[in-house]
Amino acid sequence: MCALPWPSPPLSDGVVTLRPWQPDDIPAMLVAFHDPVFQRFSDWAPLTDAAAREHFSDLERARLRGEVLDLAIVDPAVLGGVSLHGVAGERGRIGYWLAPDARGRGVATRAVRLLVRWAFDAVGLTRLELTCGPDNVASHCVAERCGFRREALLRAHQPFKGGMRDSVVYGLQNTRL
Ligand SMILES: CC(C)(COP(=O)(O)OP(=O)(O)OC[C@H]1O[C@@H](n2cnc3c(N)ncnc32)[C@H](O)[C@@H]1OP(=O)(O)O)[C@@H](O)C(=O)NCCC(=O)NCCS
Repeated sequence: MCALPWPSPPLSDGVVTLRPWQPDDIPAMLVAFHDPVFQRFSDWAPLTDAAAREHFSDLERARLRGEVLDLAIVDPAVLGGVSLHGVAGERGRIGYWLAPDARGRGVATRAVRLLVRWAFDAVGLTRLELTCGPDNVASHCVAERCGFRREALLRAHQPFKGGMRDSVVYGLQNTRL
């Protein structure tokens, strides 16, 4: 597959904008990744400046392979991140996180809606999936606000903190087809 393009102009709803990550964003990103709520629901994230730079390089290689587009959510301060990943054929997955002080005001919902519409309209995907831990209720709510439907509970689905974690799977089809 071809590289996933950077959305141009950047995706925005007038409240939040999605733009490529920049090295200057690393300090804000690292603070957010050390947050206990983020740590509770995430198995891995870069926690040092060097790891973050390597992470950006990995993301760029994956974007050029057509697999991943990972964007900063800004207003213009960095509020969090949203990604289209696992792109294969006409399917892809959505992921997101917010810095603690950006939560509780609809930022993730806005960002996911922007990226979902772009993935369907500009990339031509027909189905998106979203996978959450069963106890990540805030994330389930974001998925449902964005129109995803809960489709399955997969037992011992993915490696997580040294064991295997169940996953709730949400799906969304492109209804404009
Ligand atoms: C998952 C996560 C992004 C959800 O953050 P969030 O702030 O709850 O999500 P949103 O930005 O969509 O905000 C929704 C909240 O804003 C409120 N809100 C205000 N205005 C809103 C609007 N215009 N639209 C939607 N929600 C709005 C909602 O009522 C909701 O609050 P509530 O949860 O008290 O009902 C956040 O908890 C997080 O970063 N967690 C750690 C990382 C993580 O778990 N990522 C997901 C892995 S699957």
